[in-house]
Amino acid sequence: NKPLKLGVAGLGTVGAGVLSLLRDNASLITARAGRSFEVVAVSARDRTRDRGVDLSGLRWHEDAVALAADPEVEVVVELMGGSEGPARQLVEAALAAGKPVVTANKALLATHGGALAKLAEAKGVALAYEAAVAGGIPAIKALREGLAGNRISRVAGILNGTCNYILTEMRLKGLPFAEVLAEAQRLGYAEADPAFDIEGVDAAHKLAILAALAFGQQVDLAALHIEGITNISALDIALAGELGYRIKLLGIASREEGGVTARVHPCMVPVSSPVASVDGVFNAVLAEGDAVGRIVLQGRGAGAGPTASAVVADLVDIARGCQSPVWGVGTEALAPSTPVPMERH
Ligand code: NDP
Ligand code: HSE
Repeated sequence: NKPLKLGVAGLGTVGAGVLSLLRDNASLITARAGRSFEVVAVSARDRTRDRGVDLSGLRWHEDAVALAADPEVEVVVELMGGSEGPARQLVEAALAAGKPVVTANKALLATHGGALAKLAEAKGVALAYEAAVAGGIPAIKALREGLAGNRISRVAGILNGTCNYILTEMRLKGLPFAEVLAEAQRLGYAEADPAFDIEGVDAAHKLAILAALAFGQQVDLAALHIEGITNISALDIALAGELGYRIKLLGIASREEGGVTARVHPCMVPVSSPVASVDGVFNAVLAEGDAVGRIVLQGRGAGAGPTASAVVADLVDIARGCQSPVWGVGTEALAPSTPVPMERH
């Protein structure tokens, strides 16, 4: 089989991680995909930066959107970030050109996922985004494929690795908030603008994607209650511990009488809870289905390796010709056109 030719936009933590993983595990990835992958073109802002990966021989596009029109590129991998601008333009252009897209961009999907899914489905091409939620945890596959037979009543979890890392390091090592945040940035966990992490917006983006899959509804982000961890002090964490609780930033979406409620905020979690011991950069994704009951998945939620793992899983699916629905499992009870009232807290 001929190699599947990739155009990769964004060569930061995730982009460089994907190139490294495709190189390091090339033979087993090829065996699983049934064909090899070849990165033929890339785009990033700074052409001079050393990214720890060999870019020699690759076509460099100054304008990332041009990757969509590159005749050699068969699959576009968008790893730049941002809900608008070049990321959105590239994904739209690639789908419109009939090219499958893999993206880790939760901000884009939470804002425009429904419309992008319609475009992908109209063109009959894949829009894959396993990396957009909970890093290396296969949460999208679990919800979309694994729980396809269930009526889902709740999706929830620890959805931001940076916040969980900060709360954990403050609790276990007594380190100050700002110092741990700086370390999370150094480790490549944080968003380009870390306010998205610590103010709960990134977790809300991921919750919106999970809710769309679970309930078949595009969540109105503006109506969500979103509270981050900036007001959590070392004293709060210590007092919660004395009372037998951990403080965790949770995203929770549940099907209620009359609609779906969704919210993101710090919670006091009893130490006996399955999410209480999920520490550091780890995330946890919990789902409840009428047939399966409760499932809880956990794993690294951010960083180069875990996120690249999810991106490569999507590429393998595309190489195998898997045809998954792009968006919205579980539309049976709430018609896609029905507006969903969002609870305010
Ligand atoms: P980085 O900031 O490390 O990398 C972003 C990359 O995009 C950089 O290479 C940057 O170029 C490039 N870029 C930005 N704007 C443009 C543009 N206009 N044209 C061309 N290239 C551009 O981000 P991450 O790798 O951390 O994140 C990438 C995406 O993955 C985001 O959507 C993020 O939310 C998501 N994600 C990140 C995870 C993580 O753990 N970091 C986990 C899961 C998802 P340059 O290097 O030259 O500045
Ligand atoms: N900034 C995100 C986090 C990256 O810390 O969880 C993974 O989506």
